[in-house]
Amino acid sequence: MRDSTTSEPWRVGVLFSSSGFMAVIEDTQLRGTLTAIDEINDAGGINGRPIEPVLYDPASEALAFGRYAKKLMVEDGITTIFGCYTSSSRKAVLPVVERLNGLLWYPTLYEGFEFSPNVIYTGAAPNQNSVELCRFLMERYGKRFFFVGSDYVYPRESNRIMRELVHHNGGQVVGERYLDLRAKRSDFLPVVRDIKDAMPDVIFSTVVGDSTVNLYQAYAELRLDPKTMPIASLTTTEAEIRAMGFDVGEGHITAASYFQGIDSKRNLNFVKRYKKRYGDDQDTNMCLEAAYFQVQIFAKALERANTMDTEILRPSILGSEIEAPQGKVSVNPLCGHTDLWTRIGCANRRGEFDLVYESQAAVKADPYLIGYGRSIAFG
Ligand code: ACM
Repeated sequence: MRDSTTSEPWRVGVLFSSSGFMAVIEDTQLRGTLTAIDEINDAGGINGRPIEPVLYDPASEALAFGRYAKKLMVEDGITTIFGCYTSSSRKAVLPVVERLNGLLWYPTLYEGFEFSPNVIYTGAAPNQNSVELCRFLMERYGKRFFFVGSDYVYPRESNRIMRELVHHNGGQVVGERYLDLRAKRSDFLPVVRDIKDAMPDVIFSTVVGDSTVNLYQAYAELRLDPKTMPIASLTTTEAEIRAMGFDVGEGHITAASYFQGIDSKRNLNFVKRYKKRYGDDQDTNMCLEAAYFQVQIFAKALERANTMDTEILRPSILGSEIEAPQGKVSVNPLCGHTDLWTRIGCANRRGEFDLVYESQAAVKADPYLIGYGRSIAFG
């Protein structure tokens, strides 16, 4: 595979849903990926060769991700894949890349407690979002939490961690509900009524995709007040806020490594380029940003390795540092997860997040929460 004389493109797989109930966020990850690829190609490609994306649309079906990953690797002869939002889609791709020794670049926050030599994780692990979010919510709003989630692995596991955090820090979980990934607004109304009865201090949502919009709209319809009982989330980004309406999103809380409003020259340029390409009313978000910078990390590593052979490319990726729109990040060589910034934002009337917390630098990825010992009290 090592050949410096060819001008053939470097072919990579791209798996994000452009249709179905996850497209609201996955389509932005697709855009982030393609933006980075185009920028690299416009600058001359990698060692004189352009990157060629081979795209499939898994249409929000987790098992389709596994099928397309296999097709990419077996039929299209591709070894590197950028893709997946839901943890269930990542779990469907894992056995494929592990068996065929491929590399999945995964740009989404997730529940942690996973390691694969065939995955580079560029979204946040729980120590980079949940821990600080829990501390902030308890200090600002109170200690009684109500959990609402979509019914799959990420929400259940993320809530397991949040419950431990809440309990070990003197709080209480007063309710917990899981709804189908396709849940409608009418499905959320009885849940929000139960929340109203339970009167928690904060609602922790692990609802994803279109149903995020439905949860927040049901909350607004029943006239709960984010000033006293906000919905807090790790997944509600600028994209979902735009879809639900800025007035509906206002006052709710999200923990993320990146928000569109980060006030740095690098980020302002990134947002400007993105809006020029997709339109002024299109926003960046944490999942899009990770999808963007992970292609840049890949490009630098590929330039050094000059081969798509996973055995040679992976060591060239581990330890990579890059100035991303969120700030300087690096791929932690111990665990293949990325050291990322921790931020907490409160959505405002313009659909942007006002920062209420920001780490001083990237936080080391600790996907197994080893740094917290047996009881995950605040560090
Ligand atoms: C997720 O499913 N990792 C958000």
